[in-house]
Amino acid sequence: MHAVLEEIKKTGIIPVIKIDDAAKAAPLARALIAGGIPCAEITFRTAQAEEAISRIHGEVPEILLGAGTVLTTEQADRAIAAGAKFVVSPGFNPRVVSHCIEKGIPITPGCCTPTDIERALELGLEAVKFFPAEQAGGLEYIKAVAAPYTNISFIPTGGINAHNIVKYITFDKVIACGGSWMAGADLINAGEFDKITALCREAIFNLLGFGLAHVGINAENEKATVKIADRFSALFGFQNKAGVSSIFSSDCIEIIKSSSIGKNGRIAIGTNSVFRAMAYLERQGVEFNKEGVKTDANGNVTSVFFREEIGGFAIHLVQNK
Ligand code: 3PG
Repeated sequence: MHAVLEEIKKTGIIPVIKIDDAAKAAPLARALIAGGIPCAEITFRTAQAEEAISRIHGEVPEILLGAGTVLTTEQADRAIAAGAKFVVSPGFNPRVVSHCIEKGIPITPGCCTPTDIERALELGLEAVKFFPAEQAGGLEYIKAVAAPYTNISFIPTGGINAHNIVKYITFDKVIACGGSWMAGADLINAGEFDKITALCREAIFNLLGFGLAHVGINAENEKATVKIADRFSALFGFQNKAGVSSIFSSDCIEIIKSSSIGKNGRIAIGTNSVFRAMAYLERQGVEFNKEGVKTDANGNVTSVFFREEIGGFAIHLVQNK
């Protein structure tokens, strides 16, 4: 997948922005980053779009910047010259799509029928915007329409919010969701950047779905491990599940036969997406222990430890079931 699409996939959310005053562009970009979303699609729905892209590109270069509602090749050129790294359009315009391909810039045109999708495939696209997602039939429709196609991903946009994003993003053919809910034109015009940051945080935490998965107890040896597991089983009726290096007492308690990490034990934090959670936490300064990484059959990370301990506990991320 194109590096820009990989970055979009890591973040999982594309704020769709309508900006009336380019002077608000850089503070807006900083508000999105502060809320954990280092990505923005500035739409050509206002005359200020090009200037807004240019200002964000100059003043907040760390944001992944795209141009949206690109309806003509001329708008695409202006967006690219101003610093956009990806282009989005509401529908499938073959001229605009081909032009962006020639320019080497990723474009995700709006598609919502098999015919649209096959046009995109014909031109070699890897991902399309699915628009308008909720109104066109939501996730069930996407699943049905995506079923025949194995090599195209979707960015549902339209009617997505902080709550329904979770069901979309947990479908593996969805790389990200777009939407205007966290940075609406009214909030931008009113300069309510703290509110935008708070809405971004709500969205990103819902998307990542952090929660306690299980706690790990360090036992001294195999005998001690069995004794602890049996005690939980006797008292609470928990089923023991023996693994190679530990016994799980129910899904919530792991007794580890011997451990070199975690003074007091370990805490597993579940997330809807370990790779997105890693990208988010790395932006917050968290470092991961690359050695103990577990992956599934497709190479997706399913468990990874932090380098730091918190309160004497080793912390690791695990994939929510
Ligand atoms: C778009 O331009 O992509 C949509 O208008 C965004 O849809 P939303 O406003 O429902 O989030």
